[in-house]
Amino acid sequence: MYEKHYNIDYLAETLKLLSGVKEKSYAFFKNTPDGGTIVDLGCGSGQDVLNMSRMFNNDKLQFIGIDHDPEMIAAGNNAIQEETNVKFLVSNVLEIPLADNSVDGVRMERLVQHLSDPLTLFKETQRILKDKGVIVIVESDWNSLSFYNGDSNTTAKLNHYLTGKKVNNGKAAQSLSTYLMESGCSQISIEVFPFVLKRYEDACKYLWIDKMIDEMHALDMIGADERNHFIESQRRADQSGYFSCSMNIVVVSAVK
Ligand SMILES: C[S@@+](CC[C@H](N)C(=O)[O-])C[C@H]1O[C@@H](n2cnc3c(N)ncnc32)[C@H](O)[C@@H]1O
Repeated sequence: MYEKHYNIDYLAETLKLLSGVKEKSYAFFKNTPDGGTIVDLGCGSGQDVLNMSRMFNNDKLQFIGIDHDPEMIAAGNNAIQEETNVKFLVSNVLEIPLADNSVDGVRMERLVQHLSDPLTLFKETQRILKDKGVIVIVESDWNSLSFYNGDSNTTAKLNHYLTGKKVNNGKAAQSLSTYLMESGCSQISIEVFPFVLKRYEDACKYLWIDKMIDEMHALDMIGADERNHFIESQRRADQSGYFSCSMNIVVVSAVK
């Protein structure tokens, strides 16, 4: 029932869709001094680590990707081409295997939403960051998921399911500035990017809406009639050319 809300193929699909937001998040590290290290926590299959190493094209910087899933890290290692300044580590981000004050930048994307104990993560990032080190977080705001097809009651239940049950820390996006402030960061900035889908099949592909609705039905959060009505109204909107669904992605940055 509680199937993970992502896998390696899913990350590859969202890589294309979120490329603009990702590039904005990389740009915060452009002034990293020579000899510096940038770490991507919860790096998944490592594409952001490799993108950053290729974008900065500076062999004086080190890039480290960390994820607790050995399959993700194996995919990252397989994707390394000529980069000698990239390495991937299997580890829990709540116990990062790096020394105190050793890194210049920490990036994390769609990680905090999975953690039931996010404050431990922020203590760890403060521990490994050097003074004035930069932290950048990209998160999906599941609470902002909206459909514009007149089915707002079911959408409210879907938001409730995603933020309260399905995703461990489903309201993470709206709490990031608090986590950063409480862990002692300064210069916090927040940018919000609406992510809009115009086809129902894309909402199923990128947000797994059909699976979520089925899970809610299996959990008796909605009956069969409501489930069918929701799907039919999305399909009707799609066939008539007015399907619209949106969700906000937030990019938050701060300095230690
Ligand atoms: C939705 S994926 C995002 C992957 C990548 N950041 C991206 O944007 O493509 C979340 C990743 O966080 C990792 N993760 C979740 N909890 C973790 C933890 N406690 N320690 C290390 N990695 C974790 C998962 O294995 C997964 O690869």
